[in-house]
Amino acid sequence: MSTLVVVSHPHLAHSRAHRRLLAAIAGLPDVAIRHLEALYPDSRIDAAAEQAAALAASRIVFQFPLYWFSTPPMLKAWQDEVYAVGFAYGPGGTRLRGKSVQLVLTAGGAQEKYRQGGHNRYEIVDLLRPLETAAHFVGMTMPPPLVLFHVPNVEGIPVPADVDARIEAFARRYRDLLAAPAAVAAGAHA
Ligand SMILES: Cc1cc2nc3c(=O)[nH]c(=O)nc-3n(C[C@H](O)[C@H](O)[C@H](O)COP(=O)(O)O)c2cc1C
Repeated sequence: MSTLVVVSHPHLAHSRAHRRLLAAIAGLPDVAIRHLEALYPDSRIDAAAEQAAALAASRIVFQFPLYWFSTPPMLKAWQDEVYAVGFAYGPGGTRLRGKSVQLVLTAGGAQEKYRQGGHNRYEIVDLLRPLETAAHFVGMTMPPPLVLFHVPNVEGIPVPADVDARIEAFARRYRDLLAAPAAVAAGAHA
């Protein structure tokens, strides 16, 4: 079983969390990693190349920092290009059916801010519904997301004292998740 990790992070060189997550999964067997902003500095996605990478995988992972309660723009563009009519939906569009999509994301805000009626108004799973709905639309399944909260990396926002330890623990869980078969992989919050 092979896994495709689609990474979208516009500022990976300044990342605290995602650089460590990528280091944790580097070298895992049957795991291909594609960092969209590095592959496409002009933001023009090669749809055929991305579709071929998706076809080769039984599990797709979207790894990204939460940006304005959504994905960075290149991950949205990836869906726009890869979930194409005749490939992913519509007449003959069955090529992604049966695959799974695992979301692995980080958020600056603490988990308690992500609840119904709370500071950020909704639970994280509610904010992720468009990704889940699109995956379902093209015949893919989506297990619960793996989310690391409270890892702000924005100048002027205080960094929690335990951030490094929590990133390390999350990175180990991420590595374990990708080392396990998709069928038994279960999501969790951190
Ligand atoms: C443009 C931008 C938008 C962001 N939007 C959110 C947001 O909506 N919710 C949130 O919790 N954190 C938000 N953050 C914080 C990032 O999610 C956080 O800095 C990132 O997950 C940390 O990972 P990194 O160290 O790999 O960059 C935002 C950060 C930036 C730069």
